[in-house]
Amino acid sequence: MSRPTIAFAKPEAPATGTLVVLVAEDLALPPTAAALDATCGGALGRAIAKAAFKGKGFATLDVVAPAGCDLDRVVLVGLGKPADLSEKDWLKLGGVVAGKLIDLKVAAATLLLERADGEGIVAERAADVALGVRLRAYAFDGYKTKKKDDDDKVTLDLTLALADSSAAKKLWKARVEPISDGVTLTRDLICEPANVLGTEEFAAKAKKLEKLGVEVEILGEKELKKAGWNALLGVAQGSKRPPRVVIMRWNGGAEGEAPVAFVGKGVVFDSGGISIKPAAGMEDMKGDMGGAAVVTGLMHALASRKAKVNVVGAIGLVENMPDAGAQRPGDIVTSLSGQTIEVINTDAEGRLVLCDVLWHVKETVKPAAIVDLATLTGAILVALGKLNAGLFTNDDILAERLTTAGLVTGETVWRMPLSADYDKLIDSTWADMKNTGGRDAGSVTAAQFLKRFVGDVPWAHLDVAGTAMGSPSTDLNKAWASGWGVRLLDRLVADHYEK
Ligand code: BES
Ligand code: MN
Ligand code: ZN
Repeated sequence: MSRPTIAFAKPEAPATGTLVVLVAEDLALPPTAAALDATCGGALGRAIAKAAFKGKGFATLDVVAPAGCDLDRVVLVGLGKPADLSEKDWLKLGGVVAGKLIDLKVAAATLLLERADGEGIVAERAADVALGVRLRAYAFDGYKTKKKDDDDKVTLDLTLALADSSAAKKLWKARVEPISDGVTLTRDLICEPANVLGTEEFAAKAKKLEKLGVEVEILGEKELKKAGWNALLGVAQGSKRPPRVVIMRWNGGAEGEAPVAFVGKGVVFDSGGISIKPAAGMEDMKGDMGGAAVVTGLMHALASRKAKVNVVGAIGLVENMPDAGAQRPGDIVTSLSGQTIEVINTDAEGRLVLCDVLWHVKETVKPAAIVDLATLTGAILVALGKLNAGLFTNDDILAERLTTAGLVTGETVWRMPLSADYDKLIDSTWADMKNTGGRDAGSVTAAQFLKRFVGDVPWAHLDVAGTAMGSPSTDLNKAWASGWGVRLLDRLVADHYEK
């Protein structure tokens, strides 16, 4: 499925093709559909009765070639009790409609956004529906050379028909389509295999954000060595791929206003290094740059919608491989901050990458807040599964903001603890700290490690090992990577940092 085209128009039933109609539990047809039903001799009302369609939320009924008109089909979609629908539900509705139309191989359709109860569907909800359509239609299928039937030819042109069509179109173009494009970029980056997307290739993708007005600075190996990013460099030294650090700046706010910073773990492939991982499932570690992919997709979204805010996105790109030059367990590295780290396990590499990026951001950007994202620990999957990201923070306000934004967008987070007693678990006999604290509380000790590099800056760490990849199939996503986090953080920025 290629990207559906989205258009907006006034409510009108097309003479031919496919029409999608929303029907609530009272089973009344919205005005435009009721008029159509009258001209085709009550075919829709009869289908509803004969099929025992109850208008329950997100149920569908496909009425093929209704008698008395020239339409191919009318697809009825249940709205349940429309007054109860939240923003998330309208997104889901878009996903359900797109899923149905794709299954039916419908190439063009009009979605009638009208309610029978006389309530208008506002522009915001229409834009949510359009976002749901785009998210659901996404597929990472560029490497399939043999398609089933003529799947590759399947396209979808969807017209959203509503009274407030011009406001909806404006909102979609200016604010919501950019979010959709940001999520798409994130999904593409995560799904791309590591032989194709190495550190330099990822940096080149980030560089493209310059077209949107983002300033992109790329630090190479020489500069990193000179400045002393030894924790990050230690991870990279076992790979042929050179490390890259990318700093993206979007200056949409007032001059001099402290930016909010997003930091991402970008391990393009994590073999574990000398502490090599078992073979089973290792292929998933192409997604170990998920945090960096979210930061890049978020910057794309914020710049595309010209967000009135200063934002910095910083990603550390390395590959964790075992070779003769690789870092060993027992090695001691001096991080950019000057703090020394004993490397107990080379597979706990994400924190070694992030600690130097966090320190650099804290020192050079002077941010109002830092949010980092990392596919950091398998332990967070054990704790929370794929349904919540682990949230660790030194700031209760940030905790509340992220939690609320999660509930609104459906990209939810669950707060986990930090404390001095957990912090002790990473003290080292040989250096200032060690890079693992043992099996117990593995996600917490990883977060405690990061905390040692952010000083007093309000900071939140999102452990997205469970949410970034291997995503469950939902109405909004069928791909391996859902792009989790882009919508959450776009909302955080919009609600709390944007003027
Ligand atoms: N990238 C992994 C974490 C991961 C696991 C992400 C599963 C996504 C799915 C990380 O670098 C890692 O290997 N962590 C180790 C830490 C341990 C050695 C202290 C882990 O979780 O086992
Ligand atoms: Mn690892
Ligand atoms: Zn990793």
